[in-house]
Amino acid sequence: MSAQTAIVLARHPQGVPHLDDFRFEQRNVPDAGDGEVLVEVRYLSMDPFLRLQLAPSASMGRPVRPGDVIPGRALGRVRTSRDPSLKTGDWVIGDLGWQRFSVMAAQSLSRIDVDDGLGPSVYLGALGSPGLTAALLLEATQAAAGDTVVISAAAGAVGNVAAQLARLRGCRVIGLSGSQARRDYLLSVLGLDAVHDHRDPAALSATLVERGGVDVFLDSIGGALHDAVLSSMNPLGRIVMYGFISGYNSSGKPASYGSMMEVLRKRLTVSGFLVGDHASLFPSALKQLHELVRSGRLTVVENIHQGLGATPQAFASLFDAAPPGKTLVCLDDDPL
Ligand SMILES: NC(=O)c1ccc[n+]([C@@H]2O[C@H](COP(=O)([O-])OP(=O)(O)OC[C@H]3O[C@@H](n4cnc5c(N)ncnc54)[C@H](OP(=O)(O)O)[C@@H]3O)[C@@H](O)[C@H]2O)c1
Repeated sequence: MSAQTAIVLARHPQGVPHLDDFRFEQRNVPDAGDGEVLVEVRYLSMDPFLRLQLAPSASMGRPVRPGDVIPGRALGRVRTSRDPSLKTGDWVIGDLGWQRFSVMAAQSLSRIDVDDGLGPSVYLGALGSPGLTAALLLEATQAAAGDTVVISAAAGAVGNVAAQLARLRGCRVIGLSGSQARRDYLLSVLGLDAVHDHRDPAALSATLVERGGVDVFLDSIGGALHDAVLSSMNPLGRIVMYGFISGYNSSGKPASYGSMMEVLRKRLTVSGFLVGDHASLFPSALKQLHELVRSGRLTVVENIHQGLGATPQAFASLFDAAPPGKTLVCLDDDPL
C-alpha cells in the first residue's frame, strides 16, 4: 500500500463550481484484490454532467458526498493486474476518479487499443463518449445534405465533433457559443457556415428565421436558448435534447421548455438522447470516427490542462469561458 493525493468534495457547490468546493487529501492506495487492477491515471475527462452529481440531491448519476473522492471518467494504464482479462501496460477507460492511482474491478473498465499515430487523449474526446454522442445525435436526426443544423455549445467537446460531422454530411451548420474566441474558432478553423452568440435569444431567433429557419437542432443547453431556436424551426424539423447545461448550476427545478404548440403546428420531432442507450452502435460509429480522424477529415480539438492541481479550475471552466474543444487534465509527470 502506498500514499497519493486525491481530490475530494469539500462542500456541495452553490452555483458555478468554486475552487473551495474541492480539497486535496492524502489517501492510501490499496493493493488490488482478486478480479481487480491498479490503474495509473493519465488523462482526466472534464464532463459537465459531474456538476449534477455534486448537488446535495443529485438529479442524475451517483451522488457525491463531502469527503468522497470526486468521480470522473479517465484514461489510464494498468500497473498491476489480478484479473486475466487485463495485463500490465493495457490502456483502459473507466470511472477512475480525480486521483493519480485507482484500484478498480477489471470488469468495470473498457480496454482501448491506442493508435500510436493519434496518441491516447483522443479516446476521451473525438474517439470517446463525446465523439460517439455527436455521431449518434446526427444519426438520430437523419441530418442530410441541404439541412440547416443549429448546434449549441458548438465549440465544446460534443459540439465541435457534431459540427464537423454535419459539415461532412453536406449540411449548412450554424454554431452557437457565448464566447467570441470560440465563435472565431468555429468560423475560421472548423469552417462553419455561420455562428451566433446564444446570450440574446430574441436576436438569435430573428436571425435564424431571416436565414431560412432551422431543420435540425442539437440542444445541450435548454432554457431560453431552446425556446429561441424552437420558434425558428422549419416544418418537419427535428430537435434532439441531450443536455440542459443552463440549469446545471441552479438548485431549483430545471428551466421549463418552450411552447409545445410549435411542435404541433410545425409537426416537429422532439426527442431526448442518452448516448449509453445506443451501445450496440458504438463499434461501427467508432470505426467511422477513427477513419475520419486518421485521414484528417475530422480535426481533433483538445484543451489540455497540466497536473492534478489544475483539475478543479479545469472543471469550473466548463461553465465559463473554456478554450475550444474537449477539456482534459494530463497527469503525466505530475509531482502530486
Ligand atoms: N445525453 C448524452 O448522452 C450526453 C453525452 C455527453 C454530453 N452531454 C451533454 O452535452 C453538453 C455538452 O457537453 P460537453 O462535454 O461537450 O461540454 P462542453 O461543450 O465542452 O462544455 C460546456 C459548454 O457549454 C456552454 N455553457 C456552459 N454553461 C452554460 C450556460 N449556463 N448557458 C449556456 N451555455 C453554457 C459553454 O459553451 P460556450 O461558451 O461556447 O457557449 C461551455 O463551454 C452537456 O450538457 C453534457 O451534459 C450529453
